[in-house]
Amino acid sequence: MNPTTANEGTIRYFNSMMKRIADEMHDKTGAFEINTPSANGPNILDLCAAPGRFLEKALRVHPGSRGLGFTLDPAVGGHNPTLPNDLNVRLKFLDITMLAADMGVAHSEIPAKHPDATNFLPRQLAQEESFDLVICDGQVLRQHPRASYREDREACRLLTYMVAKHIQRHHPAALLAVETWKRRWRAATFGTDDVYSQVRLHGDADVDVILDEFGWQLIRLGREIWNIQAQALSEAPFIKRWK
Ligand SMILES: C[S@@+](CC[C@H](N)C(=O)[O-])C[C@H]1O[C@@H](n2cnc3c(N)ncnc32)[C@H](O)[C@@H]1O
Repeated sequence: MNPTTANEGTIRYFNSMMKRIADEMHDKTGAFEINTPSANGPNILDLCAAPGRFLEKALRVHPGSRGLGFTLDPAVGGHNPTLPNDLNVRLKFLDITMLAADMGVAHSEIPAKHPDATNFLPRQLAQEESFDLVICDGQVLRQHPRASYREDREACRLLTYMVAKHIQRHHPAALLAVETWKRRWRAATFGTDDVYSQVRLHGDADVDVILDEFGWQLIRLGREIWNIQAQALSEAPFIKRWK
C-alpha cells in the first residue's frame, strides 16, 4: 500500500487487517504476553509502529505499561500513526535503518562521502535501557525516497523475522546473535558489493543448516498458516486477477 496516495477505504482496511493480525497472533500464540515484567512496569518498544495496532494490542494486554514507538515519518512516505490518546506511548518519527550509533557505529567511523553521511542518527536508546517486549514489523515502502545503494539491501537492514521468548540477554548465544546482526547491518550499510555478498553467503549457510536440521518441522508447523495465508491472499482486494 502507498500511504501517500491510499484512499481512506484502503487505510481503514489496512488498519483493521493489522488489528485482526494482532488479535489472532495473541489469541493463538500469546505473542504479546510478558511473563516477568521489569520492576518499573512493562516497557514495550515497537520499531516500525504505525499505524499502531500491534503496539496498541500489547499496551492494552498490559494495563499500566509504557510504550515507545519508532516509525517512518509520513512526510517521507511512512504510514500515519493512529494510536489512541489514552495509551501511555511516545512516538518518534525516524528511519530505523539510520540508527548507526545504536548499532555500535561511532560518528567518526562513518565515511564522509557515504550517501547517507548526514542522515545517520545519534543514539536513541540509552545503553542500559531495556524492554520487556520488542515488536519489529517493518516493511520496505516503495514510496520512501532512498539513496540507490539501499535498494537491494533494504530488506536486510530493515527486517528481522522471528519470535524470541525467554531471552537471556547476557547469555553468550544471545550476545553472539546480536553481534552477528550488527555485523550484517554494517556490511549492508557501509560494505562494498563484495563485502555485502560475503556476509549474505555466510547468512545463507546458516539457513541451510537450519533447513537441514529443522526443515520438516518447519513445513509441518507452517502448513496450516500457509493455507490460511493463501486463502486470505486469494480473496484480498489488492490481488489483481488475470484472465
Ligand atoms: C506493516 S507496517 C507496521 C504495522 C504495525 N505493526 C501495526 O500493527 O499497525 C510497516 C511500518 O514500517 C514503517 N517503516 C517502513 N520503513 C521504515 C523505516 N526505514 N524506518 C521506520 N519505519 C519504517 C512503515 O511506515 C509502516 O509504519
